[in-house]
Amino acid sequence: MCGIVGYLGDKDVVPLLVRGLERLEYRGYDSSGVAVVDGGLSIVKSVGKIKSLKDRLDGRRFPGRLGIAHTRWATHGEPNDVNAHPHTDCKGKIALAHNGVIENHAALKKLLLAEGHRFESETDTEVLAHLIERSLPGRTLGEAVSAALQLVEGTYGIAVVSADHPGTLVGARHGSPLVIGVGDGETFLASDGAPLREHTQRVVYLDEGEMVVIDEAGYRTFTIEGEAVDKQVDELNWDLEQIEKAGFPHFMLKEIHEQPDTVRNAMRGRLLREEGTAKLGGLNLSDDELRDIRRIVITACGTSYYAGLIGEYLLEEYARIPVEVEYASEFRYRNPILDEGTLVIAISQSGETADTLAALREARRRGATVMGIVNVVGSTVAREAGRGVYIHAGPEIGVASTKAFTSQVTVLALLTMHLGRLRVLSQAAGRALATELEALPGKIEKILAGAPAIKEIAVQMQHHDNFLYLGRGPNFPVALEGALKLKEIAYVHAEGYPAAEMKHGPIALIDENMPVVFIATRDAAYEKVMTNMQEVRARRGKILAIATEGDADIHALADYVIPVPATHDAFVPLLSVVPLQLLAYYMAVQRNCDVDQPRNLAKSVTVE
Ligand code: F6R
Repeated sequence: MCGIVGYLGDKDVVPLLVRGLERLEYRGYDSSGVAVVDGGLSIVKSVGKIKSLKDRLDGRRFPGRLGIAHTRWATHGEPNDVNAHPHTDCKGKIALAHNGVIENHAALKKLLLAEGHRFESETDTEVLAHLIERSLPGRTLGEAVSAALQLVEGTYGIAVVSADHPGTLVGARHGSPLVIGVGDGETFLASDGAPLREHTQRVVYLDEGEMVVIDEAGYRTFTIEGEAVDKQVDELNWDLEQIEKAGFPHFMLKEIHEQPDTVRNAMRGRLLREEGTAKLGGLNLSDDELRDIRRIVITACGTSYYAGLIGEYLLEEYARIPVEVEYASEFRYRNPILDEGTLVIAISQSGETADTLAALREARRRGATVMGIVNVVGSTVAREAGRGVYIHAGPEIGVASTKAFTSQVTVLALLTMHLGRLRVLSQAAGRALATELEALPGKIEKILAGAPAIKEIAVQMQHHDNFLYLGRGPNFPVALEGALKLKEIAYVHAEGYPAAEMKHGPIALIDENMPVVFIATRDAAYEKVMTNMQEVRARRGKILAIATEGDADIHALADYVIPVPATHDAFVPLLSVVPLQLLAYYMAVQRNCDVDQPRNLAKSVTVE
């Protein structure tokens, strides 16, 4: 949510910063801007996507070696040129890019106005530029930033430059991530590793409450209060190809097609087929400690939450452990009952979602055992959880989550096998799960080969503005996920329901104009779902069924059928979700929507 890039070095600053912003555009794209220290301070900003900033820059060259840039997801103040970052102080000498929310901005603004400061934007961020201005006399830029931040409540990842300090770039983090890129004679600052990868592999992750001062000598890290801290240099394990589109028209389509590989990567080196279990190195809990777990609470947001719902089904069915799944935004403000016998699992693709992070912290504060299931290596959830399992899906750039979902479910399946084998799962039953898990990538490939037929269905359904998605058992969360995908990228209203709940209300919506997507695979719920389908048919609803290959009966009821290979009941969601991702994708393309950057959304929701 908002992306920041900063640079000090000999390369041409503005093209480098703009390229970096393009790598971060998935974090927000309401407006963008750059500020370069080039004798004075040159600032160019533009509402809209980075393309409009590029048009406005129109190849102009800036002589400086130091600059910052920002791509915005608006919180305070509508998206326009004035509210775009970087923001400046009264004299236009300090420029600041900010990710997060300054919660006490109203009180600070009142104070600053009374002291004679003049404001231009409606943002919360601008107060920080003025606070630094006010703190500067007699201090270095780093000291002034530190003094200003001590007055601030809320969250921030910031990058600051000043025309009067032409060799210094200051960054600080509290609640919004910031990474230092360490190059040869050049240093970078960014919200995540994506803009750094083409320049350096060496990174330093700032922790909460830390800041960095970058200058000709390199970089020095401190606490916000000014105490020096030594940080370790990590390797960024991102392959450049992974953050390019590789010939696909959109990142989302590329990521959907990566799933055979990403599901394979999630289990690589972890699945022990013969023993019917999984080895999960990052758990750091002994078998005895795992046996002592009496209850699991899974907490997450959005698509990760739906993966958690499938995890609930898996863990209860095959490991016989009671599981609750909670929206992180609700969990953090409840008074949850937790103890050391409760394992709290925070699931997050980005590892930066503010609510999930807060829920994790609350769980730890209350004495629960915590772990993360995370994609982004080195992200805050991963580091603060201290134990967990990476899903190894590689960078997910499309704002709508696809491959992360299937990888999260795969990891939950591995965790289920591991916990199950320590409790109730026989070796034979574990082996059956392992064998089928290994076969899934090939089955996903088969579904992907059917993409042209799914595209054709999307062409025919593109003008419908309301959809119902229905499923039962572990396919109920798949219905929720399918509906979410359609809403977020095709802007089509869609609701996911447990199929049997339809009778308790939504059935009133059904007529010949209402498409209903049934997930009707041949699993334990099949017969019941077929009955629900009859009920829709009787009311002339238009039916699209995701069905098991070879199911001839379904054609008598459904207008459209998308086949998926047969699999173990436990893993049906890992297959049934793939056609729904493709359906949403092709619907969005047909409706001329911006697939990778849907309106109002951002990839990483780092504000509440
Ligand atoms: C939907 C989507 C969001 C995220 C949610 C949680 O396609 O991407 O619903 O799943 O914002 O994000 P993470 O997993 O990064 O915590």
